[in-house]
Formats: sequence, C-alpha cells, structure tokens
Amino acid sequence: MKGKNIIIGITGGIAAYKAAERVRLFVKDGANVRVGMTENAIRFVAPLTFEALSGNRVIRDMFGSEGASMEHITWGQESDLVIIAPATANFIAKMAHGIADDFLSTMVLAATARMLVCPSMNSRMYENPAVKDNLRILEQRGMNVMEPGEGELACHTEGPGRLPEPEDIFEQTRILLSPQDFSGLRILVTAGPTVEPIDPVRYISNRSTGKMGYALARAARRRGALVTLVSGPTTLLPPYGVIFRGIRTAEEMRQTVFDNRQGCDIVIKAAAVSDYRPKESAHKKIKKGPASILLDLVKNPDILALLGDMKKKSPCILVGFAAETEDLLDNATEKLRAKNLDMVVANDVSRDDAGFGADTNIVKLIYEDGRVEESPLMTKDEVADLILDRIKTLL
Ligand code: PMT
Repeated sequence: MKGKNIIIGITGGIAAYKAAERVRLFVKDGANVRVGMTENAIRFVAPLTFEALSGNRVIRDMFGSEGASMEHITWGQESDLVIIAPATANFIAKMAHGIADDFLSTMVLAATARMLVCPSMNSRMYENPAVKDNLRILEQRGMNVMEPGEGELACHTEGPGRLPEPEDIFEQTRILLSPQDFSGLRILVTAGPTVEPIDPVRYISNRSTGKMGYALARAARRRGALVTLVSGPTTLLPPYGVIFRGIRTAEEMRQTVFDNRQGCDIVIKAAAVSDYRPKESAHKKIKKGPASILLDLVKNPDILALLGDMKKKSPCILVGFAAETEDLLDNATEKLRAKNLDMVVANDVSRDDAGFGADTNIVKLIYEDGRVEESPLMTKDEVADLILDRIKTLL
C-alpha cells in the first residue's frame, strides 16, 4: 500500500467503530489515508479518532473551513480507491440516485477513482428489495460491492448485514489494487504441517507454521487467481477469498489434493508433509510403562511425486519446496528430478531467518533446465510474489 492514496468514507451505522482499526491497518501498511464522515457517523465515533490514526484532518462539512479547497472534487479524483464502509442503506440509496447533500455524497458523485462499497445494516433492511436494487445499480456502474458477513448483528438479530472485518476489507482493497496477472488461473497451494496420530493425545508433526504457504495463497488470490488452499493445522486464519480445505494427516492431504487438483493450472506444495506415520494409532491413551518403547512407522504417500507422475496425463505447472539442512542445491535438485517438477524452491531450514516459523525467507529457485536463481532475504510475502513472477514465465 506504500504510496497509495485511500479515501475512507464513514456513514452513520454502529459498525462505524470498526473503521478505526481499518484506518490503522492501511496506515501501518504505508497508505496515505484521508477520512470523510457524514454527520450521522460522527454520532457514533469522533472525527478526532481518525485524525489521530491517519495524521490527516477529517472532512464532514461541505461549507466548513475544511472544505475550502474543493476537496469534495479533488479527493475522489486524486485517490487510488474510495472505500465506503460502513455504507448504510440511506447512503447507498443516495449513491444510486445521485443525491449529493453533504460532503461525502458529493465527493462520491464527483469521484473518478475506483470505489469499494461495504454495506452494513440490519438483515431485514439488507434484504429489502429497495436496497438490493440500489446495490445492483452500483454494481452495474462498475462499483465493487463487498458481501456483508452473516451472524449476530448489533440489533440482536441474526443474518446478513455485518460489516466485513477490517482485515477482509484491507485484503479486498489489496486485490483491487494489484495487477490481475493470474486472472483466470486456478492454483492449488498446500501449507502447514501434517499431524500423524500415535494415540488420542499424541502425534508426530513438524515445525511448519503455514506462513510460507499462506503467503503464496494470499499473493495468488491478490493477483486474480482462483485459489484452493489445503492446509494442515496452523494458528493462521484462512486468507480472505481463497477456498480453504483443512486436513490433519498426510493421507487426508493426499485425498484432498487429488479431490481438488482437477482443472488446476498450477500446484505449489509448500506443506511439510510427514514422511512417516505410526503404523497403528492406538484408540486409547498409551500408558507409561517400560523404560523404552518402539514406535513402528510406515511411509506416507509422497503426494508431490504422485502429482509428478500424473503430469503427462493432466499437465500443470508443478512447484515443490525442499527443506534441507545440508547440501541444499544437490538435495533440492534431486527432488526436482525425482518428482518431475517444473521448479523447486530450496529452503535452508538451518537458518533462523528462513524456513520454519520465520517471517522472512531466503530461497534458491531451481528450474527444470538446471538454472538456479538466488533470492535475497525477503519477507515471505515478497518471496511468494517472486515465486509467482517466475511461475508466470513457465506458463
Ligand atoms: O510453514 P512455515 O513455518 O512458513 O515454513 C515453511 C516451510 C519451511 C515448511 C516451507 O518453506 C518448505 O520448505 N516446505 C517444504 C517442507 C518439506 O517437507 O520439504 P521436503 O524436502 O521434506 O519435501 C519436498 C517436497 O515434497 C515438498 O514440496 C513437500 O510438500 C512434498 N512432499 C514431501 C513428503 C510427502 N510425503 N509428500 C509430499 O508431497
């Protein structure tokens, strides 16, 4: 968001309080945020909150001293995106019918920037045909309307009408402002560890947190792909806008990957799959007994190798990861060949700033034709974009 100019319009609904967190998210990510409010919005949250968070003055009055330099015209023409959130039924109606009776509605009418409208209201109001028609008009005019969430509303009823969470509005904005160079492509990403049960309370797993795979899924979605994320257990929230399939064991991952692989243009396997699992998982907790016991392990299916075998029959770009603590290049190249990959992302997991759990990563990209490209140390989000850039050249 660095260098982006974002206008946030806040109208008079209880969800106005959520706008504070949203402004903070955008500012933290480097955007220049300016906030416009309606008089009704000010009844819910004070403009001072947004002035403090954005570092810019809030405008609400067309004729006050704040509006003197034609901001009702310039804001919507000089910004990258105008977000109206929460958008009340009343404000949506004004937008649909060209009513300009305060600063915000006038600014919206004069705006040439892209527009994201986030309705938020009682579910009966949201389902009212008048509101539905007005939203349809906005969409027909090329505005982006975000579906409200469902659940318990401030008016103690249940149903659609909740303002999407600040993180989801932020992510939808990232999508709108990103180049859609993966539009029309289907990508399957795996992430996280697998968990192989020993008994009802113990398991074999590994240190994967899912950060790398989730970054890939998020980046691909931002760039317009239809993304399915197959993930082992992590503490991360599924990225906004991706189809999420949670699994636990390697066998469940195999099944889910093959259920979702059909029609995919690209498969990226960032998951750390357990190579072995206990031959049998006890139904009851194994009691403490002798000084040592043996755990009988059997090999798990190598999902990536199975995908590699299928490539002739149903072609796709296949990208694997290799997590190594020694002979990084040789071991990773061996995996590329053995599993019939188009590219392998070699990860030196002996470093503290790369691999498992870290927010950063440094990788070697090894291609089928033997080329090797080294990345600098980058955030996992940046590594994800680099991997996607290179996959684009293979398509
Ligand atoms: O999740 P984070 O904390 O962000 O950490 C990221 C990561 C270190 C897990 C990730 O960057 C990474 O390197 N993932 C691959 C880890 C791994 O299991 O590597 P491997 O060398 O054991 O496996 C090679 C490839 O085969 C991998 O793409 C793996 O998904 C796949 N594989 C492995 C075994 C198996 N039974 N089935 C598989 O599909």
